[in-house]
Amino acid sequence: MSSSPLNVAIIGMGTVGTGVAKILLNRVEQMTLRAGRPIHLKRAVVKDLARTRDVALAPGVLTDDIEAVINDSSIDVVIQLVGGINPAYEIMLRVLESGKDVITANKALLCEKGESLFQRARELGRCICFEAAVAGGVPLIETVTQAMSANQITSIEAILNGTSNYILTQMFSHNVSYEDAVQSAQQIGYAEADPAMDVDGTDAAQKLGILVQLALGIKVGLDQFLRQGIDSLSLADLQYASELGYTVKLLAVAKLRDGQLEMHAQPTLIRNDNPLAHVEDAYNKIALEGDAVGKVWLSGMGAGQMATASAVVANLIDVAVGRAAITFPRLDLWNPRRDIKIMPREEISRRYFLRLNVEDRPHALADITNVLGDHQISIASLVQHEAPEVDQSEDYPIVPLVIMTHRTTEGRFQAASRELDELACIRAPLVRMPVND
Ligand code: HSE
Repeated sequence: MSSSPLNVAIIGMGTVGTGVAKILLNRVEQMTLRAGRPIHLKRAVVKDLARTRDVALAPGVLTDDIEAVINDSSIDVVIQLVGGINPAYEIMLRVLESGKDVITANKALLCEKGESLFQRARELGRCICFEAAVAGGVPLIETVTQAMSANQITSIEAILNGTSNYILTQMFSHNVSYEDAVQSAQQIGYAEADPAMDVDGTDAAQKLGILVQLALGIKVGLDQFLRQGIDSLSLADLQYASELGYTVKLLAVAKLRDGQLEMHAQPTLIRNDNPLAHVEDAYNKIALEGDAVGKVWLSGMGAGQMATASAVVANLIDVAVGRAAITFPRLDLWNPRRDIKIMPREEISRRYFLRLNVEDRPHALADITNVLGDHQISIASLVQHEAPEVDQSEDYPIVPLVIMTHRTTEGRFQAASRELDELACIRAPLVRMPVND
């Protein structure tokens, strides 16, 4: 094992890059011990050299010239923390082609371009490490690809977006408005540069796509499974769910059922006796099921500066000690291996929560239950609180009506939802969420 320093460059000194630099500069002795050699932060590429930073870098480290990294043959590893697809894709290819290993937290890039990036890295004899791309500081990638390798993973149920979980917690437990919660998630550094990716379910879906790829060896595109975010929910939905004994979480699910893959990432009602219901703030929690080990639970901070930096630095040690060079070529990632059919979304069978804003007048409930009955959907429970009495000559009051259904298929439920939306007694788009059983 070499004892010469491992020369490192960081491209992108945002929240996570700054956290990585803090660890490398403040824990030199510990890093040297763990890596078996000194780790030297040689370059940090930024857009704006003049910006004040939260970490003191040695003179000459900071640069706004990416070529200073690409053309420096003494740099062994690049920590690539540029978000999005372009120019991140181009940068990663150039870094690999210049003979350096890459560590990244960019799940959007892996999801969209993983296949070509991993193939190129293998051709070049280089590694791409990405523990930080899924579930922040939780050692999930290592668990799926190494610790559970004796198993066929048959089920993944996970809270994978820290920002959404933080927002839901702020709204429900601290009475903070949705807008204020989004803003504070950005200020703390949980949210993506564009928080729309967090709240519309894209981020959780990308992470689920990566996990499915690792666990099952199949590539599932984002448009191939149900994906929905928390951006259409209101505090009332969280409160009604609670009244019924459930907590709402943005839940990512992939399960093998009779040889088919059921997959979705949606706000979901989780029974309060399920540990997933008690995950607060930006924490992530993941339940993996392996056919030998049974259920494995992991949890920890899924977003934020030091948690994500922790995963990046763990990968850096993997590269420094030579583990990544052994495991990466054998992982054969993004190289489709299995022929597993994705369950058509219409066939997915679950119970549902439905909130409707209804005119409180004769026959409204009958109209609604008729539609559900016509689609063979059976009602399990129903909540409507009394509205104040009004003179029948005035407009009818609008009241929330919450229905929990028995198990039905997504296809039936979608067809019924479309018909319900057309009813004259329903005065706002309905809110619908599946129930996790
Ligand atoms: N924005 C992401 C989240 C960060 O909130 O989970 C980690 O991927």
